[in-house]
Amino acid sequence: MGRTSRVALAALAATANAASNATSLADVCTVANVQAALPANGIILGIELIPSAVTASALYNATSGMGSTTTTTYCNVTITYTHTGKGDSVLVKYAFPSPDDFEKRFYASYGAVGGATSTGYDAFDYSYDEVVLYGNGTINWDATYMFGYQALGEMTIVGKALTTGFYGLYTDTKIYTYYEGCSDGGREGMSQVQRFGAEYDGAITGAPAFRFAQQQVHHVFSSMVEQTLDYYPPPCELAKIVNATITACDPLDGRTDGVVSRSDLCMLNFNLSSIIGESYYCAAKNSTSLGFGFSKRAEGSTTSYQPAQNGTVSAEGVAVAQTIYDGLHDSNGNRVYLSWQIAAELSDADTVYDSTTGTWELSIPSTGGEYVTKFIQLLELDNLSNLDNVTYDTLVDWMQIGMVRYLDSLQTTLPDLTTFQSTGGKLLHYHGESDPSIPAASSVHYWQSVRSIMYANQSSDESLAALQEWYQFYLIPGAAHCGTNSLQPGPYPEDNMATMIDWVENGVQPSRLNATVSSGTYEGEVQQLCQWPTRPLWSGNSSTFDCVNDTASIDSWTYTFSAFKLPVY
Ligand SMILES: *[C@@H]1O[C@H](CO)[C@@H](O)[C@H](O)[C@H]1NC(C)=O
Ligand SMILES: *[C@@H]1O[C@H](CO)[C@@H](O)[C@H](O)[C@H]1NC(C)=O
Ligand SMILES: *[C@@H]1O[C@H](CO)[C@@H](O)[C@H](O)[C@H]1NC(C)=O
Ligand SMILES: *[C@@H]1O[C@H](CO)[C@@H](O)[C@H](O)[C@H]1NC(C)=O
Ligand SMILES: *[C@@H]1O[C@H](CO)[C@@H](O)[C@H](O)[C@H]1NC(C)=O
Ligand SMILES: *[C@@H]1O[C@H](CO)[C@@H](O)[C@H](O)[C@H]1NC(C)=O
Ligand SMILES: *[C@@H]1O[C@H](CO)[C@@H](O)[C@H](O)[C@H]1NC(C)=O
Ligand SMILES: *[C@@H]1O[C@H](CO)[C@@H](O)[C@H](O)[C@H]1NC(C)=O
Ligand SMILES: *[C@@H]1O[C@H](CO)[C@@H](O)[C@H](O)[C@H]1NC(C)=O
Ligand SMILES: *[C@@H]1O[C@H](CO)[C@@H](O)[C@H](O)[C@H]1NC(C)=O
Ligand SMILES: *[C@@H]1O[C@H](CO)[C@@H](O)[C@H](O)[C@H]1NC(C)=O
Ligand SMILES: *[C@@H]1O[C@H](CO)[C@@H](O)[C@H](O)[C@H]1NC(C)=O
Repeated sequence: MGRTSRVALAALAATANAASNATSLADVCTVANVQAALPANGIILGIELIPSAVTASALYNATSGMGSTTTTTYCNVTITYTHTGKGDSVLVKYAFPSPDDFEKRFYASYGAVGGATSTGYDAFDYSYDEVVLYGNGTINWDATYMFGYQALGEMTIVGKALTTGFYGLYTDTKIYTYYEGCSDGGREGMSQVQRFGAEYDGAITGAPAFRFAQQQVHHVFSSMVEQTLDYYPPPCELAKIVNATITACDPLDGRTDGVVSRSDLCMLNFNLSSIIGESYYCAAKNSTSLGFGFSKRAEGSTTSYQPAQNGTVSAEGVAVAQTIYDGLHDSNGNRVYLSWQIAAELSDADTVYDSTTGTWELSIPSTGGEYVTKFIQLLELDNLSNLDNVTYDTLVDWMQIGMVRYLDSLQTTLPDLTTFQSTGGKLLHYHGESDPSIPAASSVHYWQSVRSIMYANQSSDESLAALQEWYQFYLIPGAAHCGTNSLQPGPYPEDNMATMIDWVENGVQPSRLNATVSSGTYEGEVQQLCQWPTRPLWSGNSSTFDCVNDTASIDSWTYTFSAFKLPVY
């Protein structure tokens, strides 16, 4: 789970040359126009819109942009609905651009300033983890399904209908509908293509926090490794191991640029043991860590003191790092889950300094700890207090419980996207290769699942070509979680929406993905990233690279989770 994720869903009804005869925003941005534009109750089954609760106010040159559009003048609309027979109340905010800026597109974007749906549990004021339990032992399933996929789907369905009416379009006017989001926003996007496939023309999903059961418990894995190996490395030691790995593996992709563009080659060719004995030093510092990823509360953050750390990398430190990168296995040696790519930061493994004993001690990341206490143990506790009596097999049990319990709400890995595909949907999926929160291989595994489920009877070449016509996946060399990586000055894509619109509206199927290097020696360089499963390989330190097929590389990204009897998509 990304630490920045929250339940905020922004809808932007963008743009222009409307068939509408209205000439100005003021003409359409009225309560009466929005009320008239609301779909009549009965049309959207299960949703009862409340016309009397509509608000509409024009905002001119507003300072905070709304999501992925540059429009800053828009109609700020709020609508409220209830689910038939339930008596709940869901508030949704929409931003409608001026009629002359409207281009018949509807964006549902995640985490944007402004627009959102309250998802029925007042997500404007509370985060989902704060409401997931009514009390010890009782799950708030309404909030869970709304968070899981329902609120966003409803926002889009209502929003599209509202857009047609708002601009006075013919009811059969095509409104291109797009989604863009990363981390939990990426998971939400995947939930939409899985469950509301016909509603979207294009979805851009980054580093999705899906496979929720495995993903969240995986946040406890690093602590579990330290406890099992009984070694609690000073954070500086692990930071040194990561830095030394980056230095050693950077050239394996054919260019020395500070970026491990081929973490697979690093995994296959580099032995972490070679770092043992290298010296490390980190100055004393006070660091502030944020609380649980969902949380809206600043109080969740903690400040901790780290003394100066000066030492040499130990065999124990390397063993911790290697075991973490190897991923969770059960006591019978079965693979349970995948892990971060080698060269990714090991932030979940951060220990905490106890100044009274002068030692480094276990620090369970609350991303994993709170998931276990609330979602698995069903206790109103914010964190696991320790891992007493917990083993690797306990983690497997927690994953199994979570997978079954939330299979149809939070797991979000349904691999059959036929509805989305057959109605013309396009999916652009990306993941930072050195993501230290959600492993990049997590995305690769889903791509493989979709390919094998949807094209089970086709040859390898056929299924790849067929899939790439509507679902493309890109690893972003060196990138971290939904952003660039301070340790690796690599590229990051900036115009995904332009690529998507070209694909959907003009039929321009991408084969590469533009990404710009934003720091370091190659700052400003535009790289055209390789589409999975091809991998970049530079020759002779030149500024271009080839996208190569490398079977050993692909195999290193391919996992079978034999610890589970059910398929894990
Ligand atoms: C908004 O900005 C535009 C361009 O700067 C300006 O022409 C217009 O008068 C502004 N509108 C309002 C209402 O301030
Ligand atoms: C939009 O309208 C709602 C309801 O009146 C209001 O609460 C909200 O602050 C407005 N948003 C902005 C950005 O002004
Ligand atoms: C726009 O104006 C034309 C011509 O007056 C009219 O036929 C049409 O119905 C109007 N469209 C809308 C959406 O009001
Ligand atoms: C790791 O490298 C970064 C810069 O890339 C540096 O800021 C940091 O101090 C290094 N850490 C250690 C432990 O060497
Ligand atoms: C890495 O090197 C160590 C020490 O030389 C050796 O024991 C270990 O087997 C090597 N690991 C691999 C995967 O080759
Ligand atoms: C950490 O914070 C303490 C208390 O505010 C302060 O005394 C100390 O100088 C700080 N240390 C560093 C390295 O910033
Ligand atoms: C780290 O410790 C070594 C050996 O005690 C010492 O020589 C070195 O100066 C120390 N480095 C720093 C930056 O304090
Ligand atoms: C979670 O609990 C563990 C164990 O008490 C503690 O070390 C860690 O700092 C806690 N994390 C947060 C973010 O509170
Ligand atoms: C819920 O369970 C936790 C852990 O057993 C306990 O500390 C807490 O008091 C319980 N809350 C209530 C309201 O009973
Ligand atoms: C761990 O197991 C031991 C032995 O079964 C038991 O005495 C102890 O209470 C357990 N600790 C916790 C925290 O469950
Ligand atoms: C990608 O980059 C190339 C070269 O800089 C440029 O010509 C092209 O327009 C870019 N594509 C998009 C979608 O921005
Ligand atoms: C990689 O393999 C795919 C599928 O077999 C093939 O279509 C493609 O041409 C190959 N690319 C290269 C660079 O060899």
